[in-house]
Amino acid sequence: MTTTDVQRAAATALAASAIDLTKTYGAGETAVRALDGVSVGVEAQRFTAIMGPSGSGKSTLMHLLAGLDTPTSGRVFLGDTELTSLSDRQLTTLRRRAVGFVFQAFNLLPTLTARQNIRLPLDLAGRGVDPGWERSVVEGLGLAERLGHRPGELSGGQQQRVALARALVTRPEVIFADEPTGALDSTTGAEVLALLRRSVDEWGQTVVMVTHDATAAAVADRVVLLADGQVAGDIVEPDADDVLEAVRTLGRA
Ligand SMILES: Nc1ncnc2c1ncn2[C@@H]1O[C@H](COP(=O)(O)OP(=O)(O)O)[C@@H](O)[C@H]1O
Ligand SMILES: [Mg+2]
Repeated sequence: MTTTDVQRAAATALAASAIDLTKTYGAGETAVRALDGVSVGVEAQRFTAIMGPSGSGKSTLMHLLAGLDTPTSGRVFLGDTELTSLSDRQLTTLRRRAVGFVFQAFNLLPTLTARQNIRLPLDLAGRGVDPGWERSVVEGLGLAERLGHRPGELSGGQQQRVALARALVTRPEVIFADEPTGALDSTTGAEVLALLRRSVDEWGQTVVMVTHDATAAAVADRVVLLADGQVAGDIVEPDADDVLEAVRTLGRA
């Protein structure tokens, strides 16, 4: 066993979990049940993909796990803390400390430089920079030469690497990524996936990634399949063929 294997074996803790979650948008005849009884545990220091067709509830599940939205019923835990028992203010404080986000559309602030964007979560949380860690992240993501650039002066792949650096800089308990390669070409997307993978393997981060792409999902340690707001499968150590086969099976169900 390598050191990483030993660390993983020891890391049986759940970084995030959901118990019997439902989420209904709207009311009456136009109500949409986006999640319908989802229970899932996300292991710490692992890369978990949430996969399913468009409209299956992936983003809704991610938003609930990350405390960006509240469920209609059910319970959500980040580590040992029950998010569904916190006030909005407590939730905001916890999110700033413990959660990092990467979105499909990068969501960088256009008037700030790459360095200012990366430090934004620290500024919002009133925390200082850990210079050694910031340097590791910036160099590990190949951004050292780009720190003075604004997002408009960077390629899509570079912008997403800035967004990943921004998610990593606080050393959050969980990084949530929603279709992080959705706006990138396949080569650049593969680079971003490899960096998410490295965040787990080299830096011990916990990553939860939402995707509808089987190739992207296969980079994860585990794939949780969603269909119609329910968990429809769970694949450990997937390869792309396993994921494609599971998706085909879903299609036949
Ligand atoms: N804010 C919202 N208001 C109303 N319906 C929503 C809202 N967000 C999502 N939905 C609906 O909930 C379902 C699940 O959406 P979503 O979680 O975004 O799925 P996915 O990310 O898998 O594409 C879809 O039917 C979608 O139209
Ligand atoms: Mg989505």
